[in-house]
Amino acid sequence: MSAAEPQWRDGTRCVRAGLPEPVPGDPFLPGPVFAAPYHLDPWAGPAAAANGYGRPDNPTRRLLESAIGELEGGDCRVFASGQAAITGLLLAVLRPGDTVLLPADGYFPVRAFATATLEGMGVRVGFVPTVGPYPSFEGVRLLMLETPANPGLDVADVAALAREAHAAGTLLVVDNTTATPLGQRPLDLGADLVVASGTKALTGHSDLLLGYVATRSAELVETLTAWRTTTGAVPGAFDAWLAHRSLGTLDLRLARQSANAAAVAELLAGRADVTGLRWPGRPEDPAYPVASAQMRRMPGVVSFDLGAADRVSRFVEAARLVVAATSFGGLHTTADRRAQWGDDTAPGFVRLSCGVEDTADLVADIAAALDAAGPVRPLS
Ligand SMILES: Cc1ncc(COP(=O)(O)O)c(C=O)c1O
Repeated sequence: MSAAEPQWRDGTRCVRAGLPEPVPGDPFLPGPVFAAPYHLDPWAGPAAAANGYGRPDNPTRRLLESAIGELEGGDCRVFASGQAAITGLLLAVLRPGDTVLLPADGYFPVRAFATATLEGMGVRVGFVPTVGPYPSFEGVRLLMLETPANPGLDVADVAALAREAHAAGTLLVVDNTTATPLGQRPLDLGADLVVASGTKALTGHSDLLLGYVATRSAELVETLTAWRTTTGAVPGAFDAWLAHRSLGTLDLRLARQSANAAAVAELLAGRADVTGLRWPGRPEDPAYPVASAQMRRMPGVVSFDLGAADRVSRFVEAARLVVAATSFGGLHTTADRRAQWGDDTAPGFVRLSCGVEDTADLVADIAAALDAAGPVRPLS
């Protein structure tokens, strides 16, 4: 069951991705292989078997990598978290004197890492808003995009930026966390590398941390594999197995999350007490022209402003189907007031991640919770 046929649609690809050929008596997805060392051939040593030691070798991890690789359309290496994948990629590729451009409005720990660690190593770091304007890429070693960007949901034109980057000899990396490989295929759009957190919608059950890098370049796969083996940021076998099991329902989960986001965005757009609504799937959204051209489906994440921190607290407390939590892309609808984590967002800015609840229930609950939260209260 390993090689997905190109004509298969998303649901079929997800349910079969990375599974071994059927063997009578064997499970569909083999259970996790828990091993640090494996038995070695006493004469031939490690060369005689696929597995010698758990840091470089784990069959559960390899099956997950073939599954994600099939969906992204490249070779995949998984990491212990999205941050492990992003920082590993940047450290493996960049050298002192290089210039890197990173999103100014993306996941903020990436900026913090760049300032604290990359600059300290002598890498020149620039931050560019996802919507641009982008500077000349002459002399830039690596450009990283995050599209849609978290949490503001702006979108960058990957194909256009890939052309410009490649003309200057710049590597293009796309963080595909929010879209997932079903929402967008950056390698098809010209990116050299995809990097992502698999903690979010990809696995979607809020029960594990995972990251990955995917590419079509054999040289980059080799560099990243060597980096990961040396530094050791591998996910455990149980997390890899859970992630693979969860991938089978990715198409179903995203379909409901996206439908819920569309309905919630419509509700919020009609309310005078909500401002700054962003969802790239709305034709009125500034991101819509590029998003609708390059994305295969829209994410379940919506952002908006409730005007004040205490109004966000009242809204979440009143809701029965929206819980306060960071992260996004899970089965349950969550709201996160991003300013509390240090994001450069307004105090009442909310990132709402729609879960897979029934759409009518979720919309009714959010409408009632906004009513219960009342208006912004003047400071006394
Ligand atoms: C866009 C994006 N990239 C990367 C990460 C980091 O992923 P992880 O939390 O799995 O390390 C996050 C986490 O929220 C994210 O939103």
